[in-house]
Amino acid sequence: MKIVITGALGHIGSRLIRELPSFFPEAEIVLIDNLATQRYCSLFHLPERASFRFIEADVVTADLDPILSGADAVIHLAAIADPAESFRKSRLVEAVNVRGTERVARACLRAQSPMLFASTTSLYGKASSPYADSKRKGEAVLQRLRGQGLRFVILRFGTVFGVSPGMRFSTAVNKFCWQAALRQPVTVWRAALNQKRPYLDLGDAVGSIGFAMKRGLFDGTLYDVVTTNTDVAAVLEILRNLSPRICVECVEANGMDPSSYEVSSRRLLSKGFRFQGDLRSGMAEIVRLLQSASPQNPLSFPPSVVAEGKLQRESEAETDPRLREDDSCEMGPKHPS
Ligand SMILES: NC(=O)c1ccc[n+]([C@@H]2O[C@H](COP(=O)([O-])OP(=O)(O)OC[C@H]3O[C@@H](n4cnc5c(N)ncnc54)[C@H](O)[C@@H]3O)[C@@H](O)[C@H]2O)c1
Repeated sequence: MKIVITGALGHIGSRLIRELPSFFPEAEIVLIDNLATQRYCSLFHLPERASFRFIEADVVTADLDPILSGADAVIHLAAIADPAESFRKSRLVEAVNVRGTERVARACLRAQSPMLFASTTSLYGKASSPYADSKRKGEAVLQRLRGQGLRFVILRFGTVFGVSPGMRFSTAVNKFCWQAALRQPVTVWRAALNQKRPYLDLGDAVGSIGFAMKRGLFDGTLYDVVTTNTDVAAVLEILRNLSPRICVECVEANGMDPSSYEVSSRRLLSKGFRFQGDLRSGMAEIVRLLQSASPQNPLSFPPSVVAEGKLQRESEAETDPRLREDDSCEMGPKHPS
């Protein structure tokens, strides 16, 4: 069996490639990545029991036919995946997330390989971004090619949290944990404290990919994949329990998605998939991992940060502990995917 994974060295891919052999022990796993995000480290210490082949290639320009030839399935993760960054890079986002997806889909068609496409629950929000638009267009490309015989499945992932070798920290939960562990103020959007959003444990993301492939769910259906819907206040509460001395800094955000929404994974559950992750243990694992970055009294703030005036509330909180409980809002300037 041959499985091709694009964007294999990224946050999701780097965990997936380590867990996929337990779903398909005999598989040859071909990893494609253009190293745009420099996650070379995702290739280190791969499990020996599987057969891996890494190809440095760009889905926008590479000749994909020889790579996909004979593939039993293609998992398409390659993307510019940061919604906030996508405003600055809209051309690149269009090229990679739309044209790149179309190139992969057409190559799948020629190779007669089914395709799994990673999309996003951001599409349910009210505010748009080049990132969300590109995912919508990517989904539409697949639906169009369905008429020509493309077999595919779309998994709309919630904002992913969790640990991987190619981990990134631009998404909400991972970012909060990073800031807390690095003794930085946890920056949250004031207006969004009580807005609910869908989140996805990384283990569940990987599990859903393995599940969809094992079950051969390539009939063009779209599945939402969400471990939990929760608001940022609840995320901060968990973080406080893990790291009692966090300091939250509220920021105003222009262009923030004003909607509060929840997403159900009913369709995937009805196929028999079971979620195993939960926010609390996922965050505990991230915090444990990051603790080594700031081992001594990780959640007190260095004098330099206070001196820069970023933490006006720090000294007030020494005298009024309630301030630590009350001054939280939502994500900082970078909106999570
Ligand atoms: N992480 C999340 O919260 C989340 C949520 C919903 C959907 N998704 C989707 O899941 C997929 C994987 O997300 P991720 O978090 O692992 O992202 P990531 O940025 O960590 O990984 C993407 C990988 O794709 C590679 N890449 C970028 N452009 C490429 C190109 N032109 N050719 C080949 N490789 C290229 C990058 O080098 C990177 O290793 C993306 O499609 C993303 O949109 C992610």
